[in-house]
Amino acid sequence: MSTPAAPLLQVQGLARRYGDSRVFEGVDFAVARGEFVAIVGESGVGKSTLLNCLAGLDTWSDGRIVHAGTDLATLDETARALWRRAQVGFVFQAFHVLPHLDVAQNVALPLMLLGRPDPDRVQAMLGAVGLQGLEARLPRELSGGQLQRVAIARALVHRPGLLLADEPTGNLDPATAARVMDVLVEQTRAAGSALVLVTHSEAAAARADRVLRLTASGMALAPPAVG
Ligand SMILES: Nc1ncnc2c1ncn2[C@@H]1O[C@H](COP(=O)(O)OP(=O)(O)OP(=O)(O)O)[C@@H](O)[C@H]1O
Ligand SMILES: [Mg+2]
Repeated sequence: MSTPAAPLLQVQGLARRYGDSRVFEGVDFAVARGEFVAIVGESGVGKSTLLNCLAGLDTWSDGRIVHAGTDLATLDETARALWRRAQVGFVFQAFHVLPHLDVAQNVALPLMLLGRPDPDRVQAMLGAVGLQGLEARLPRELSGGQLQRVAIARALVHRPGLLLADEPTGNLDPATAARVMDVLVEQTRAAGSALVLVTHSEAAAARADRVLRLTASGMALAPPAVG
């Protein structure tokens, strides 16, 4: 009998409160390498907050987040930033594309920060999300859906072990959304990364290996959509 490999990401008893006000508590789940987990839940339940915690960008009130055997709470600010730079790709709900950098520079940024410039990889990612020809545009010259795709290409370009995506197809038409989901899933599988994707889209959730529902009192497996 083989022992299952330790999960890449393990979340135990996670809680987030603001003073006396609870966002969520008792959140337990794990994500394996190469696995795609979708997280669904009502607006305001704390999905973005949870992703920020998983990236070490926000603090939590109780519980543990363990990434590849390392408890994030044991890393100081600097160690956490270095870990994030090398291991995490994040597609923010509000994109956070840098306004003074053009499209190609935004996508290249994670590689530059790691001292691994790779123009061919940047071009490949721009092509994969359908942004070829827009390399020299500034963010203010792009549509919302194009900005979202810049954010996705940037999150994937350095082949992070953990990819966190907050509504990555929220601004895209169904055909572009399906294409971007293909890119996210292919890159995750190819790099053996874990993909945690927050979405309100049934089409996006349907692509996941598992769909988890976040509520104020914890995380539970959501039954697959019928149809
Ligand atoms: N400083 C704060 N004090 C109290 N509550 C806060 C504070 N900041 C955020 N919240 C609350 O935390 C909750 C979680 O917000 P979050 O953005 O994580 O929700 P979400 O599930 O991502 O929602 P959506 O689907 O709309 O993106 C919200 O109900 C919000 O009101
Ligand atoms: Mg959110």
